[in-house]
Amino acid sequence: MFESVEPAPPDPILGLTEAFKEDPSPGKINLGTGIYADDTGKTPTLECIKAAEKVVSETATSGGGYLPMTGLAEYDRGVVALLFGEESEIPASGRALAAQTPGGTGGLRVAADFIARIKPGARIWMSDPTWANHNGIFTAAGLELATYPYYNHETKALNFDEMVATLKEVPAGDVVLFHACCHNPSGMDPNAEQWNQLADLAAERGFLPLFDFAYQGFGTGIEEDAFGLRAFAEKGMELLVASSFSKNFGLYNQRAGAMTVVARTAEAATVAMSHVKLAIRVNYSNPPAHGARLVAAVLADSDLRRVWEQDVTTMRNRINGVRQQFVETMATKTDKADFSFVATQCGMFSFSGLNKEQVLELREKHSIYIVGSGRISIAGITSANLDPLCSAIAAVL
Ligand code: LMR
Repeated sequence: MFESVEPAPPDPILGLTEAFKEDPSPGKINLGTGIYADDTGKTPTLECIKAAEKVVSETATSGGGYLPMTGLAEYDRGVVALLFGEESEIPASGRALAAQTPGGTGGLRVAADFIARIKPGARIWMSDPTWANHNGIFTAAGLELATYPYYNHETKALNFDEMVATLKEVPAGDVVLFHACCHNPSGMDPNAEQWNQLADLAAERGFLPLFDFAYQGFGTGIEEDAFGLRAFAEKGMELLVASSFSKNFGLYNQRAGAMTVVARTAEAATVAMSHVKLAIRVNYSNPPAHGARLVAAVLADSDLRRVWEQDVTTMRNRINGVRQQFVETMATKTDKADFSFVATQCGMFSFSGLNKEQVLELREKHSIYIVGSGRISIAGITSANLDPLCSAIAAVL
């Protein structure tokens, strides 16, 4: 059976890391996958996690048992509080329930399977462009895919009017996927007024919003970045959120994520969770414990939480500083293109505007790895690779 099988194409993002590892060039640069690195090129263990490791090693009763299907209860409560804020009535109301999942991808897949269980063949609307893996996750769960306009490649800005025009036609019962902040790959988010408008539209049309929330704290701040989904939740409507703590807790290989159901009532949330549990059970049964224990320890302790906020601020400030340096360095290398728009984007990525041929040339001639859409992981640029990177980009323009 296996000998007649054609090879599958490499993953557009993680496949780049595989190719990068094989590349013998000493000056190779990997700006493909969104992984934060400090200026030395290393992905640090955050200070809050170093402290949480101590707490967990002293307190966790990590015996041999499984976690519940929905994971660690204190972690799930922490996720809901983080999403909606300490001031909100939502955490206490019981109408928002989280299930710990293996990473944000696990959260998205659980959300997709849950949707497919309660509405077989449902349609999901995704931004154009979107994270390369969304398509595969929702297809694998049997959902029908559709797209709404999001980004204008000419003006390098949000295509808000066209986005709204399309979403106005979305029928009740369809699902609309939003990136809660730091849109991946474009780095362009709706502003507060636009989020409010989108929330009104969702309430009016009756579509189900699903938020992919993988970069909380990388845009403006931990609270500020939740503005969009809070605008929807405050209207009392149903929504789903897939969270990832890979980036903001630096827990990439611990797979700490969640899928949160927000219903109109606590009773409806409990019923929804019964389906979420079954989706989890047939997929991976129950999630791994350690990463969730670390996150829960940080969120439960006000001192550790302050350390975490500082860790996130440090990462965000470094990325924003690198954006500026990238714009300034590109200006010294070429006048064929203006890269000042990169400083207006937010999050880990820059949607550079480089086309497929240029991306390929960067890889083949300069051993620089970026995603085929032209997405550069700004978080991987360092003082050492900035100059050769900008020279190579100028050379392929
Ligand atoms: C990315 O977009 O690079 C990250 O979300 C990592 C991944 O899994 O693709």
